[in-house]
Amino acid sequence: MSGRLLQNDLNGPPMPTAVRAEGVWITDVAGKRYLDGCSGAIVSNIGHGHPRVVRAICDQASRLTFAHRTAFTTEPLRELADALCMFTGYDAAWFVGSGSEATEAAIQLAVQFHRERGDRKRTWFLSFRRGYHGNTLGGLSLSGNARRDAVLNLVHDFPSLPEPYAYRDRGDRSDSEWTAGMLATARLLFEKYDKTLAGIVVEPVGGATMGATVPPAGYLPGLQELCDEFGGLFIADEVMTGMGRCGTAMAAEQFGVRPDIAVMGKGLGAGYTPIAAALVSPRVHEQLRAGSGRILGGHTYAGNPLSAATALAVLRVVREEGVLENAARVAPRLAAGLAEIQQRSDLVVDARGLGMLQAIELSSDKATGRAPDPQGVLAREVAARAAANGLILYPTTGGVNDALIVAPPLTITDDEADVLLEKLANTVRA
Ligand SMILES: Cc1ncc(COP(=O)(O)O)c(C=O)c1O
Repeated sequence: MSGRLLQNDLNGPPMPTAVRAEGVWITDVAGKRYLDGCSGAIVSNIGHGHPRVVRAICDQASRLTFAHRTAFTTEPLRELADALCMFTGYDAAWFVGSGSEATEAAIQLAVQFHRERGDRKRTWFLSFRRGYHGNTLGGLSLSGNARRDAVLNLVHDFPSLPEPYAYRDRGDRSDSEWTAGMLATARLLFEKYDKTLAGIVVEPVGGATMGATVPPAGYLPGLQELCDEFGGLFIADEVMTGMGRCGTAMAAEQFGVRPDIAVMGKGLGAGYTPIAAALVSPRVHEQLRAGSGRILGGHTYAGNPLSAATALAVLRVVREEGVLENAARVAPRLAAGLAEIQQRSDLVVDARGLGMLQAIELSSDKATGRAPDPQGVLAREVAARAAANGLILYPTTGGVNDALIVAPPLTITDDEADVLLEKLANTVRA
């Protein structure tokens, strides 16, 4: 272990050293195997070491790894844009290197969209307070995630829309009463920021901050209607939920909304390469072309041919190898298993999710379900014990609750899902 390596936990216990991985299994230097129950950080959607992707990486690396976008385009990049738009139904793609950069790009594209129409006042955004959109200043301005504290007053205080968190906030209300209440509060905010609103940025299903929280059916369509009424763009942050994670190419389509911009990352490179994208609808695309016809900004490594060829291979695996079909089969099994663990355990107070983005919420007081104080310690402790049992889970990091995201590769088999559930049941029992 190198004391020169800065890690998140500078004084924590040593972490295992991962040396190889295949499918849903990661092996450490001591030969211990871990079931990757959260695809890393909900990244490795097609599992590890897929031979087709490895081959594509080697092929591309032997031909061309970099040609800067100001001088060249490349075949894999053009093919990726076409394939991704066909897969997701968006009109055009702007590539970057990480989910945070993609959120920043969406913010900039939205502001540019309004500016091209002669409206320079629309620079303000609404988002969910208990959400996460990345570790950059723009992303953190949109997030109430605890990480925001690290940068104090450097971030904007974008106002918060009510975020759908059924377990804590719904109470005894029906879904329609709850939805109507949230939309009434949202309307007041839209009215307040009417002339300055560039758009809203929301996760279709809550991820790193809340843990697989699913909105009631009418909420996202209600927000879309407000955007249309008040002239803001609907930006879906699908960094975690996109690329089939929730059962469809993009999660927003399951709620009947058609965002103006969608942001994706994580599963796009699927752990094989850093790559992310902001996808735009025809309306946004046309406005940018008809206006200045120029997107300002960009990042040096954005859209490099090696990452593009890799993501293209990942997308081909997803489309051609029955990945979504497998996920559709295994997801109900996983959800049922988590619900059973909730019933049997004193520690698990909620089990929820959509498709292969599931979570359990923990409390040491099952009777009240009270969130632990200090927050995060319990979830980290259970995650550490799960790791000792050979199961990796993703604790929520937002300072909101203690939840563990359960989101294995979409390629996991029934038998492997059963192993995951058994390891998890044993962990919470202990
Ligand atoms: C919804 C969402 N948006 C943005 C990000 C930031 O992505 P990255 O860590 O690749 O910068 C994340 C990361 O967890 C995320 O979950």
